[in-house]
Amino acid sequence: MRSALADEMRCASQALAGLAAGERLDHALELAGREHALAPASRPVVRDLAYHAARTFGLCRELARLLNAREPAPAVAALQWLSLSQLIDPQRHPATIVDQAVRAARADPVTEGAAGFINATLRTFLRDTPQWLERARRSPEARWNHPQWWIDVLQADHPQAWQSIAEFADRHPPLTLRINPRRTDLPTYLDHLQAAGFSARVVGQQAVIVEPACAVQSLPGWAEGWVSVQDEGAQRAAQWLDVQDGHRVLDACAAPGGKSAHLLELFDVRLTALDLKRKRLAQVGEGLARLGLQAKLVCGDAADPARWWTGPRFDRILVDAPCTASGIVRRAPDARWLRRRGDLATLAAAQQRIVEALWPLLEPGGKLLYVTCSVFKAEGPQVIQSFLGRHRDARELALPAGKPQSAVVPGTEPGLQMLPTARPSEDHDGFFYCLIEKLRP
Ligand SMILES: C[S@@+](CC[C@H](N)C(=O)[O-])C[C@H]1O[C@@H](n2cnc3c(N)ncnc32)[C@H](O)[C@@H]1O
Repeated sequence: MRSALADEMRCASQALAGLAAGERLDHALELAGREHALAPASRPVVRDLAYHAARTFGLCRELARLLNAREPAPAVAALQWLSLSQLIDPQRHPATIVDQAVRAARADPVTEGAAGFINATLRTFLRDTPQWLERARRSPEARWNHPQWWIDVLQADHPQAWQSIAEFADRHPPLTLRINPRRTDLPTYLDHLQAAGFSARVVGQQAVIVEPACAVQSLPGWAEGWVSVQDEGAQRAAQWLDVQDGHRVLDACAAPGGKSAHLLELFDVRLTALDLKRKRLAQVGEGLARLGLQAKLVCGDAADPARWWTGPRFDRILVDAPCTASGIVRRAPDARWLRRRGDLATLAAAQQRIVEALWPLLEPGGKLLYVTCSVFKAEGPQVIQSFLGRHRDARELALPAGKPQSAVVPGTEPGLQMLPTARPSEDHDGFFYCLIEKLRP
């Protein structure tokens, strides 16, 4: 049993108001969910409503700006944006959306007085939808559903591909699984999926997309740790760090632990999983426990190893640095609305500090893999370019899917920029990877 759509819309629009006020959408959804006691079956619906509104936030805000004679109160604005996002999505009947939006407005003392305003503006929009959409889409933020500064950076960094990168953000992300080779293998797990009535397609060495997406608890062997959720692009990290059994490995920005778990599934290594945030580090422990894996969990600042490291050095270091998340916008549609232009330089400086501080912890002959889930050059090639320029004992190595070693020419951009891609046999978010070797003296 689900709650009424009007109640689901109220809850989702409260979360959207949280996003507009600068809260992460998942956190805003959690807070809104606590306030509105909805039926459990309504939770995924509320999430879908809010996520869809976040994906179309630029367009809905511009539509509202054109439709409104004056700016409404934040709670009314959020309900209006949410309703507009539903009206531009042809999945529900427009009359139902308007009716439920008006009910949602009436059900809350804060929005009650604006029920007529909601009704009138939504009906105005419906009277000539193509004209309103055409007018709104003259604004690049509405056309591409990204803030202007983000569009500017995409255009400068990817003059050929920026439009497809921006459009990729509108997509619903698939449910991509990583098969745990300690528990099963790809062909066997595909048989389990088929027997349980799921359709699946293989998109990587250990990566399978299950369609349609479902609650993970209903997947075969979920509780037993046969599979985990992880985008295929993220699965390259453990494959490309060039780890061997017995290595001492540092995962320097580990939470929530997807890449740590993958490393431990593939290799018998002594893994230290470090993260700045204690709460997030606890998620690493929980994830590893489900998979029956173990690591040393350390809460600390990767840019300040003197506070948590006394030796010995590591054979391999994975730096999955904090970033704008510009490569994973289909999974995190709120990131682009929360970030500000100045964040890019701040994050790039933090990434530089982290790689710089961790370099002395790497054994000579060891390897460091730098990763960001970003498509912005300032967070990828530019960080590494400047690092390589400062360290004569560092040299870039070719990645299996990247440039051949002979093609690593001084002066060209280092690393491999994976652009977000959704094809039947290749489906991943956007990532930057660069593997660096520490030369022996
Ligand atoms: C991109 S996420 C890592 C995702 C993770 N590697 C995975 O695969 O599940 C970046 C992480 O870096 C952490 N972080 C941010 N700044 C840090 C710092 N200075 N030192 C250590 N961890 C940091 C964040 O708390 C966040 O958990």
